[in-house]
Amino acid sequence: MLNFDYYNPTHIVFGKDRLSELDQLVAKDAKVLITYGGGSVKRFGTLDKVKAALGDREVLEFGGIEPNPQFTTLMKAVEIVKSENIDFILAVGGGSVIDGTKFITQAASWDGDAEELLNFGFGGTPATNLTPFGTVLTLPATGSEMNMGAVVSHKGGKFVVMNMGAFPKFSVLDPELTFTLPETQVANGIVDTFIHTVEQYITFPVDARFQDRVAEGILQTLVEVGEQTLKNPEDYDARANLVWCATNALNGLIGAGVPQDWTTHMIGHEITAMFGIDHGKTLAIVQPAVWKIRKTQKHAKLLQYAERVWNLTEGDEDARIDAAIKKTVNFFESLGIKTKLSDYGIGADKIDLLIEGLELRGMTALSEDGTVTLDVSREILTEAL
Ligand code: NZQ
Ligand code: ZN
Repeated sequence: MLNFDYYNPTHIVFGKDRLSELDQLVAKDAKVLITYGGGSVKRFGTLDKVKAALGDREVLEFGGIEPNPQFTTLMKAVEIVKSENIDFILAVGGGSVIDGTKFITQAASWDGDAEELLNFGFGGTPATNLTPFGTVLTLPATGSEMNMGAVVSHKGGKFVVMNMGAFPKFSVLDPELTFTLPETQVANGIVDTFIHTVEQYITFPVDARFQDRVAEGILQTLVEVGEQTLKNPEDYDARANLVWCATNALNGLIGAGVPQDWTTHMIGHEITAMFGIDHGKTLAIVQPAVWKIRKTQKHAKLLQYAERVWNLTEGDEDARIDAAIKKTVNFFESLGIKTKLSDYGIGADKIDLLIEGLELRGMTALSEDGTVTLDVSREILTEAL
């Protein structure tokens, strides 16, 4: 096992009917800014419940954070945080609203040009004294409710923005708040959770048995509940399992002490930035291609994945790995998620543009061992056609 630090201060408030507890979670004298997205929280009544729980506190609202939150939109909220002396922000929504809020709190405390905050990547931004924030999660997918990462879109690119002070103080995870999601967003969330897990699991072995078995548990649970929660969105237990898997797939637990490979995410971000395809859908296109091109480097873990997640124990090793990749593709397709660029009308003529985007953002040495160069990314994208 590799050395690691594990730090996660987010208080999780999980289960039915927990929104009223916001009254205890937010300081009585706080001046609160509620951030939300395009209006689903208004349509389905969540915003009203949140406001009722906040009672007499002074509350302002900032709506309109779009999927793949845009820097320019978020900067409007930064102005409000500064001019109104906001001392608590409450994000009510999915990954985009939560990520947007993480950026807002960093930009509001940053004296320089906020665009600079987009350039620190996985190293983390130097912003300090962030306005505290909490979240009410409405979409299980990103894990943003229990981590310190955000992804912000700007000028045709997606930028990773991290900060050790950007963990939510608390996150309310009421699975019932996710019942109103359209099927395709639930499927996106299942795939996003699946890929977060495999990007911290299918690398090379370091004898991290606990992390491996938790990862395998998340993957098996997703396979078990995926179709069930899509077909019966109001099956509470199935949805509760999805929500908790999504949170744990990216809260630092399974990634501690193991190599990580974020190739699929980084290539996926370029596809979203260029073609507007949902985050989860891009991952289902890229991941199988990554495994096919990087089969040698990932051989041992792909084999372990085949055996322990898909019970493939017969036949030679390469055949088992191929079968596991096929089963993964079939799983995504069974959720209604397509797995090829051509399914979205994207042909070989667009690969140069995607490679240019990766180069522009310095994504030239991806993967667990830094050997996914632009040439290898080109092979991956070609395989994904
Ligand atoms: O905007 P509203 O009207 O609220 O509608 C949203 C949005 O259109 C809707 N929705 C959310 N909850 C709903 C609902 N509709 C009905 N009922 C509900 N309960 O769903 C749509 C998508 O929402 P969004 O927040 O964009 O989805 P998701 O949670 O998948 O977030 C995607 C963003 O997260 C980033 C992605 O890059 C992308 O920008 N990621 C963040 C990560 C992190 N912070 O750790 C890691 C991820 O890998 C990912 O990159
Ligand atoms: Zn993701």
